[in-house]
Amino acid sequence: MKFIMAAIVVAGVLIALAIAAVYGGWFSVAADEPHSRLIYGFMETLRSRSITTRAGQLQSPALDDPALIATGARHYAAMCSECHLAPDQKDSELRRGLYPKPPNLTQPIKATASEAFWVIKHGIKMSGMPAWGVTHDDQSIWALVAFVQKLPGLSAAQYQALAGAGHPHAHEHHEHTGTNIHKAPDHDSTGANHNHAATHRKQ
Ligand code: HEC
Repeated sequence: MKFIMAAIVVAGVLIALAIAAVYGGWFSVAADEPHSRLIYGFMETLRSRSITTRAGQLQSPALDDPALIATGARHYAAMCSECHLAPDQKDSELRRGLYPKPPNLTQPIKATASEAFWVIKHGIKMSGMPAWGVTHDDQSIWALVAFVQKLPGLSAAQYQALAGAGHPHAHEHHEHTGTNIHKAPDHDSTGANHNHAATHRKQ
């Protein structure tokens, strides 16, 4: 009986503390204040377990297909490099201000192809990583995965040749491949094109 009473009191104190912490604003959401090591470790584990568990083993198209890589390269230059960098880019203002900092994808990453696909499609909550699956079909996402796997080995010149960097219409949806691999409804109704244009613009 005594033990049950003590357990109830302890639980009550913990709940009161949690409420005080939330409503008292104890936790800082400022992106320029890093997490404590404990919270950081917790978030890391939560993220990587969540992704690994959900990604599983997906059936991918041939990721070494040059046409797929080239499509991915153009989309990467338009939508990703401002956060994830390119061979000729050391850092960006957007990336420097983000927390967690977007990984530099010109360096090899640990994620498997399935995990990269899952992250690019679904994004990551409470980080800057958007869910590109909202506006792009699976084929476009695989193109990005194919390119991201090649990126760490590319020189600046190879990158530019593939990505058409500096080309104002690098993310023109109908060019080269001849097929529109983006989700049609977003195209017609929500003006997803314009969002890409905004991402593409330099500060
Ligand atoms: C606004 C910034 C931003 C943009 C734009 C962005 N990302 Fe990310 N991305 C992030 C952040 C931040 C993370 C890390 C999130 C975390 O670790 O919690 C991330 C993580 C990733 C990862 C996981 C890397 C790893 O080590 O497991 C991949 C792959 C990725 N992004 C690919 C892309 C691709 C491809 C695009 C373009 C289609 C893109 N990202 C656009 C911010 C961005």
